[in-house]
Amino acid sequence: MRVTLGSLALAAAGLTQVTAKKGSACSKLAKLFPDEVAFPNTEAYEQSSNYWSGRQTEQTPQCYVTPRSTEDVSKIVKTLVGEKTQFTVKSGGHTAFAGGSNTNTGVTIDMIKLNEVTVSADRKTASIGPGNRWGDVYKALDPQGLAVVGGRVSTVGVGGLLLGGGISWFSGKKGLACDQVRAYEVVLSSGEVVIASPTKNQELYRALRGGGGSNFGIVTRFDLVAFEQDKFWAQMLYLPAQLNQTIIELYTRMVRDQMHKDPGAHSFLVLTYDPDSGADIIFPYFSHQTVPPNGGIPPIFQPYQSLPNAFVNQTIVEQASGHALAIGDVPGNRQDWWTTSVKVKASETFLQIAQLHKDSLARLVKAAGSSYMTSVLEFQPMTFNMLEAGLKNGGNSLGLSPEDGPFMIIAWNPIWSDPSLDKLVEKTAKEFISKVEKLTKEEKVYEAYKYMNYASDKQDVLRSYGKENYDRLKEAAKRYDPKKLLKTYWKGYHKL
Ligand SMILES: Cc1cc2nc3c(=O)[nH]c(=O)nc-3n(C[C@H](O)[C@H](O)[C@H](O)COP(=O)(O)OP(=O)(O)OC[C@H]3O[C@@H](n4cnc5c(N)ncnc54)[C@H](O)[C@@H]3O)c2cc1C
Ligand SMILES: *[C@@H]1O[C@H](CO)[C@@H](O)[C@H](O)[C@H]1NC(C)=O
Ligand SMILES: *[C@@H]1O[C@H](CO)[C@@H](O)[C@H](O)[C@H]1NC(C)=O
Repeated sequence: MRVTLGSLALAAAGLTQVTAKKGSACSKLAKLFPDEVAFPNTEAYEQSSNYWSGRQTEQTPQCYVTPRSTEDVSKIVKTLVGEKTQFTVKSGGHTAFAGGSNTNTGVTIDMIKLNEVTVSADRKTASIGPGNRWGDVYKALDPQGLAVVGGRVSTVGVGGLLLGGGISWFSGKKGLACDQVRAYEVVLSSGEVVIASPTKNQELYRALRGGGGSNFGIVTRFDLVAFEQDKFWAQMLYLPAQLNQTIIELYTRMVRDQMHKDPGAHSFLVLTYDPDSGADIIFPYFSHQTVPPNGGIPPIFQPYQSLPNAFVNQTIVEQASGHALAIGDVPGNRQDWWTTSVKVKASETFLQIAQLHKDSLARLVKAAGSSYMTSVLEFQPMTFNMLEAGLKNGGNSLGLSPEDGPFMIIAWNPIWSDPSLDKLVEKTAKEFISKVEKLTKEEKVYEAYKYMNYASDKQDVLRSYGKENYDRLKEAAKRYDPKKLLKTYWKGYHKL
């Protein structure tokens, strides 16, 4: 039934030319890889259908294919293109919107079996397969006293996070995760396997650092800079949202005036509503590379410690895998994610954004009635040092420079259960972002950059990198996918 609906939607979009005889690609793949192709109503198919957002889980590809090697990926790409079949690629499956890494009309390549984590003999590089989630990576590196710049939540995938940027506890010192990739092994749309690095295929290397995968190729290995890393410190505080003014004032001052002087410090700030208790919560997350002596608090985070009535006050001193488990991640609900960016000047801007969020969420909660509805508004600081690090090693494709900082990435993540509310949620999220952007333009604190990893598919992420970067990405796509095969067959993410 769903497959039928999917092809109807395709026909309506005028894209019928890419639907070949249904199922012929999957049966060809099953001949090539008898144990690696999963059809509907099998256990293997159910296993691959495991996504963070219900909007992706409910998509039904003709089959999932799980390559075991780079060569397998190459054969799969050639087969799919040869059969004129749409496809997508799944790493950790944490995209919120339908079609981000699953499909109703084609084949999903699930990278889960490309799960190597190999440390080089000199301990300076970790080669990581896109089938890993960050928890797997840290579990392999922690016992060796090493870490890489990666995600802060255990279940998030390596592939998507690294290709869109990647914000980490270590970013104050080392920049975004994509800035720490020394080489990519990539399967191009022709099936050819290439290395992209500062000395080989430089334009592809640059494009993959922030430009996403779906315009350029399938990454089968990321070589990341590894560094010595012992336990570090973090604190999670859940406080009543009535403290919003005090906390937002402290937070604005900290990000604007202090964080760049203390690159070991890392933080984000969340406003949310807990439907079970009915409580409005403000949640600052703090981490620091230096563990303070005698159970103390790093000086930069001390001003928050006298705030009253914390629901949660948890200190964590662990290696990366322990920290990545501490931040919760509840899969299964319907999810959406929208973003914009704001320069950090006056706290009033952020107070107004918090109020706009509260109003938008209240409307959604009302519409949801007794069904589940909440949302998470995140303020993610981007400090001078994070942006400076992005200029090193040949630079990334994000179009950011230290003069843009410090700015705050604003991310809005509504979470709900009733599919009939999808349209309303999208509309409300879009309106929320427009209101924030109207406000920030008026107050001259608008920052054009949109963070791919927090963006909706309805937002023009790649153009937000600026014309020069957009054009360079276009050139790279032309060079590495000259027949526009990825544009034609790999649907559903941020396309050029
Ligand atoms: C609970 C949670 C916590 C998060 N925490 C952080 C965080 O700490 N820092 C941060 O920066 N972001 C964070 N994010 C955002 C996260 O970076 C994005 O959601 C990211 O896209 C997830 O990657 P994934 O591999 O799980 O997603 P997927 O949906 O599997 O992939 C995302 C996109 O990348 C493509 N892709 C995946 N693998 C490859 C590959 N090997 N080659 C080519 N293309 C590929 C997919 O096709 C898709 O287009 C978080 C998200 C969630 C839901
Ligand atoms: C901020 O706190 C005040 C009370 O101190 C409250 O009236 C207001 O609704 C709060 N705003 C948000 C966004 O939580
Ligand atoms: C959290 O706990 C620490 C250690 O007990 C304490 O010093 C600090 O004041 C507490 N902070 C808040 C905001 O409650």
